[in-house]
Order: sequence, then C-alpha cells, then structure tokens
Amino acid sequence: AIAGCTGADETVPVVEKVTIIDVKYIVGIDGEYPPYSYIDKDGNPTGFDVESIEWIADKKGFDVEVQPMAWDGIIPALQAGKIDMVYSGMTINEERLEKVNFSKPYWVANQAVAVRADSEITLDDYKAGKVVCGAQRGSTAAEWIETNLIETELMPKDNLKLYDNFPLAIADLENKRIDAAMYDTPVVKDIIAEKDDVVMLGTIQTDEEYGIAVRKDDVRLLNTLNDGLDMLMADPYWDELIEKYKLA
Ligand code: ARG
Repeated sequence: AIAGCTGADETVPVVEKVTIIDVKYIVGIDGEYPPYSYIDKDGNPTGFDVESIEWIADKKGFDVEVQPMAWDGIIPALQAGKIDMVYSGMTINEERLEKVNFSKPYWVANQAVAVRADSEITLDDYKAGKVVCGAQRGSTAAEWIETNLIETELMPKDNLKLYDNFPLAIADLENKRIDAAMYDTPVVKDIIAEKDDVVMLGTIQTDEEYGIAVRKDDVRLLNTLNDGLDMLMADPYWDELIEKYKLA
C-alpha cells in the first residue's frame, strides 16, 4: 500500500520494463506472378505487391520476409502458420473466405486468353469449350474453366491442362501442346510482352478483387494491413508503383 492512496491494501501494478519486440511477418508469394510478385535478375522477390508490403511494413513498423512458394499449397501454408499472409494477386472469393480472411480489395482484374500468334481460334471458340486450354492449378482461371466449360459439358475434362505456374502453360502453348492459356489479364500482358509468337486473344470480364489473405484468428494483423492499405492507396507512392509496373 502506498501512503496517500485510497484503500490501504490496494496493490499498485508496477511496470518494470518495457521491451520492444521486433515483429516480423512472413509473406507468401508465387514468384511467377509478374508484375505483382516475381523474382528479379538478382534472385530477389519484387513486384507491385512485394513493394506494397515493404512500404506498409515500413510505415506500420514491422519487418517482412518474402517467401516464394507453390501457389497450389499457399492457403494450407498460411493456415499452418508457415507464412503469415498471402500478398500475391489473390482473388477474394467465397471458397477461400471459408478458410482465411481477406484485407480490403486493392485491385480489380479480369481474365485473359492467350493463343499462338498464328492461331485461328476465336474467342467464341474458346467460350464454346472447343480448345485445349492451360491454366494454373488452384487459380481462379482454372475455376472459371471448370465452372463455365467443364461443368456445363461444353468441354471434355481432359482438355483442361493444369500447371504449377503460368509461364509453364505459356511454354506448352508455344510448343503446341495446348491451344490457349487463361490467366489474370495484367499477368498475361506482362508475361507475353516480350514474345512475338504469343498474343492475347481477348478478355473475359470477371471483376476479381485482389486482397491480402491472413489467418482467420489474426484480426490484429488484418487491421494493421487494412490501415496500411488505406495509407498506401492515399499516398503518391501508390501511383508511382502503378506506373512502374505498367498497371495503369
Ligand atoms: N487471381 C488469381 C487467383 O486468385 C490468380 C492468382 C495467382 N496468383 C499467383 N500469385 N500465382 O487465383
């Protein structure tokens, strides 16, 4: 008890020492998702999403370690605590919301179909399920094909070829193993930009919103990220990034 305080037996809590703990979050990405997340010439992860989280981390006072990994297992890795967030052009959808939480949307994308430059396929052929098509395993592109072409019986199941990442699908397209490949428009544009044997046939409007995925119980991180996204999207740096990664 301290003299002068009310109640003779009152215990006064004493803060002995304040320790500042460095918080570090591990960010899972697909390293083959330019311009959002990819590996640069020197082997370092970079891209629109990677630079976004580095900026947010700096403003909000935490450290990040960016970890490239297989897209197909990225949500299980998040749930298992191997990574703390997925920041890699992940579309917010119902199926994923059953397993993880998402930040507010920071981008909207559609799907694009790529074909060989000398191909005679039309977008109508594609939408009618008449071609052998490639997509990334576990992507919304693969899901679009399953829902709109396979389940409707427009296309036989075997006409969908799944790949671990999109560049592998493009390689098979160039080698004539498949006739078309589907993926998010900004990524298709980026990946085929330097190629003259592959072109974009057209786009299919899906209005997919990208968000950062976190574990369901990680409410604190979710709030921090939403706050960080607000700050970033209101900052001139946001437009710089959009320009740098040719996303405008
Ligand atoms: N937006 C699509 C999806 O959520 C494709 C994302 C693939 N992202 C990636 N980093 N590979 O499925």
